[in-house]
Amino acid sequence: MTAQRESLRAILEPQSVAIVGASDDFSKINGRPLKYLLEFKYGGRILPINPKYGEIAGLRCYPNLEAIDCDIDLAIVAVPAKAVSDVLESCAKRGVKSAVVFSSGFAEMGEEGKAAQERIGVLARESGLLVCGPNSLGIANLTSGMTASFSQTLERKPASGPIGFITQSGAFGTFLFGMALESGLTFKYFISSGNEADLEFADYVDYVLDDPEVRVIAGYVEGLKNGGKLKEVARKAASLGKPIVLIKVGRSSAGTRAARSHTGSMTGTDAVYSAAFEELGIVRADTEEQLLDYASAFLSSARLPQGRGVGIVTQSGGAGVLAADRAEMVGLVVPELQDETKKQLLGVVPRFGATGNPVDVTAQFIAEPALLRDSIALVDRDPQVNGIVFCLGLMDLHWSRVAAELTELSKTVTNPLYVSWTAAPSEALEALRSAGIPVFPTPTRTIDALAAATSFNMRREAASQRVFPAAGPAVLPEVVRQLIHGARAQGRDHLLEWEAKQVLAAFGVPVPRGQLVGSSAEALQTAEALGYPVVVKAQAIGLLHKSDARVIELNVANAQQLRLAHARVLARAREHGSPEAIRGILVEEMVNGGLEVITGVSYDPSFGPVLLVGLGGIFTEILRDVALHLCPLEVSEAAQLLQKLRGYQLLTGARGTTKRDLASLYEALAAVSRMAAALEGVAAEIDVNPLLVLPEGQGVKAVDALITLRSR
Ligand code: COA
Repeated sequence: MTAQRESLRAILEPQSVAIVGASDDFSKINGRPLKYLLEFKYGGRILPINPKYGEIAGLRCYPNLEAIDCDIDLAIVAVPAKAVSDVLESCAKRGVKSAVVFSSGFAEMGEEGKAAQERIGVLARESGLLVCGPNSLGIANLTSGMTASFSQTLERKPASGPIGFITQSGAFGTFLFGMALESGLTFKYFISSGNEADLEFADYVDYVLDDPEVRVIAGYVEGLKNGGKLKEVARKAASLGKPIVLIKVGRSSAGTRAARSHTGSMTGTDAVYSAAFEELGIVRADTEEQLLDYASAFLSSARLPQGRGVGIVTQSGGAGVLAADRAEMVGLVVPELQDETKKQLLGVVPRFGATGNPVDVTAQFIAEPALLRDSIALVDRDPQVNGIVFCLGLMDLHWSRVAAELTELSKTVTNPLYVSWTAAPSEALEALRSAGIPVFPTPTRTIDALAAATSFNMRREAASQRVFPAAGPAVLPEVVRQLIHGARAQGRDHLLEWEAKQVLAAFGVPVPRGQLVGSSAEALQTAEALGYPVVVKAQAIGLLHKSDARVIELNVANAQQLRLAHARVLARAREHGSPEAIRGILVEEMVNGGLEVITGVSYDPSFGPVLLVGLGGIFTEILRDVALHLCPLEVSEAAQLLQKLRGYQLLTGARGTTKRDLASLYEALAAVSRMAAALEGVAAEIDVNPLLVLPEGQGVKAVDALITLRSR
C-alpha cells in the first residue's frame, strides 16, 4: 500500500473525527455532521470543538484542537473562510492527519480567495496534512457511518452500497446522491472534492477503486488539474474491471483557446476529454439519467456484451423502431437476423407480428408466455446478436407473471438481456432489479445503457494495457535540439517551415525533398537537382500564412519560370516584413496526386499532447470531421482513429476513388505523435497541414508544417 493510500485511509476511514466549529443547532451546516455521525452510529471517536459549548448532544465539546489529548485522524473544518487557515495550521501542528474544509470563500471568490486557497495547498504539501476542499460538502463512508458531510441526502438515511461517488460540485453532487437513492442505487462513498486545494478527483478514485465493496465509480467532473493521475487510475480501473462512469460538464466552445494553428482551434478542451475518456475506458454520461442508468447496468447481473450486435424484441412496433434508430445512433448494430433464425421465428411469432430485427411479438405474449420465451431464446442464439433488448409497457394487470417470466429468461440466455419497461408498475421494476436485470423506463435509455456496457467492455482490455511515457521533455535528436536552440536564441516563438520539416524528418515523418537557398542561381541549381516541377516558398520569420501572403508558387516548370518565381516570392516577402526577417527561399519537389490530410498536435493542460487528424478542405474547415487521440499512439491506434472520420472512405478507394497509402499514413501519424510526446514542454502547437496521402504504395509527404514554441 502506498504512503498516499495509507494516509487517504485517514480521511475516508478515520478512527476519530473532530468537528471544528461544531454547533448544537443540528439544522445548520456546522451542526449537521455531528447529527449524522450520531445517527449513522459512527464507531470512532467524535470530538466537537467550539469554545461556546461545554458539551453537545452529551459529548464533551473542546475549546480548541490543543485541548484534545488523543490522536485525530480527521478534522471537519466548519468555520468562516477567514478562520480556516489558522485552524489548518493548528491541525498541522497538532499532527491531525487529514481535514475536510466545508467553508466557501476561496478560489470561487476572486484573487484574494484564490491566494488563500493556494496557501492551503502549500500548507498541505509541506506538513503532510491531507486536505479535502475547501468549499466541500464533505465526505461520507456509509459502511462505517463516517458522515463528515452536511449533505441533506443523509436525512434520508441511505444504506451503504456498491458505488463510490466523487463529485466536483458539492450541491449538484448531493442532488445526484438523492436522485440515485430514488432509483434504488446506493453509495458506499459520497465524496465532494470541493476546490481541490490539495487532494484531487483522481486521488479519491484511486483509493476507492481498491475497496472490494465498491464495484462502480461514478462521478461529476468540471475539469481535472492533472490528467496524468486520471490516466493511471483509469488503467487500474480497467484492469480491475471496475467501470468509471462520469458526467463531464462544459461542452460549450467557450473553452476553445485562441490558437494560431488549425489544430489548436479545433482541439477544444471538451473534445480532448471525450477522446481521453474513450481511450482510458472511462464511460462518459451526457445526462444525469445516463450516469445513474449506466451505473445500474454495470451493477446488474447481466454479462457485459461481447460485441455491438443488438437483437430487439418488442411488444410494440413503435418502441422497436425507436430502439433500433437509437442503437445505430449510439454505435450499436441492429443486424439482419440469420435466415434460420427468421424461419424459426415464423413458427413462433403471430402472423400480425414481425420476425425481422426488431422482432415484434405483439401483446399476444401476455396470453401466450411461450411466445416471449421462444422468441428471446431464438434471438439469443443468432450469432450476430451480442445483447438483447426487450421493450414492453404498462402491464398493471400482468406485471408479476411477466416479471417472473423475464427473471427465468435472464438466467437462461447467453447474451445480456436488457428490459425497457415504459410506465411500469413500480413493483415490476423492483422485481426485475432485485433479480439483477437491467431495466429502464424507455427504449432510448435502455439502448444507451447497453451501448455504454458494450463500449466499456470493448475498450477495457486496451485501456488496461495503455502505458503513457512520463511527461516532460525527452532526449531530443541533436538536429532538433539545435534548431530549437537557434530559434530561441533569435527570440523566435516558432520554427520556420524549413526547420519544422527537418524536425519532422528527424522523427520519421516523410517530407518533400528540398533545399533552402539564397540567390536565384542557387535556386536554379537546386531545381535542376530535384527535377521540375518544383515549389518555391519564402521562409521569413513571422510569415506563417504563406498562401495569404502569396509567397508560395507551385508547379514551377522550368528555369525561366523559376527565376521569375524566385524574384516575385522574394519581393512579396519583403512587402510583408523587414528584409532581415527573410531567411531564404525554399525550393522543393512538387508533390502531385495526394489527398490532403490535416494533422497536428496541441498540448492540453490536463492530458498533455493530443493528436488531431482530419481530411483537409471542407471536411475539417466546415464539417469539423476530425478525430483526436492522446499521444503517443501506436500504428494500430492510428488505424482505428482514422476510421472514426466520416470521410474515411475517401482514403480506402470507395466508389471508384483512388486507394490511398494507408499504411504510410498510420506510420506518419504515429511518428507525429512520438514527436509530440518528445517535444512536450518545448512545443506549444504543431501543425502538419497538409499531409499529402499518395496512392497506395507511394507513401505520404508533409508539404507544410508549423511548430510554435512554448514561452519559457
Ligand atoms: N474554533 C472553533 N469554533 C469556531 C471557530 C474556531 N476557530 N471559529 C468559529 N467557530 C464556531 C462559531 O462559534 C460558530 O458556532 P455556532 O454555529 O454554534 O454559533 C461556528 O464555528 C460557525 O461559525 P459561524 O461564524 O457561525 O460561521 P458561518 O455561519 O459562516 O458558517 C460555514 C460556517 C463554514 C458553514 C460557512 O462559512 C460557509 O462557508 N458556508 C457555505 C458552505 C458551503 O456551501 N460549502 C460548499 C458546499 S458545495
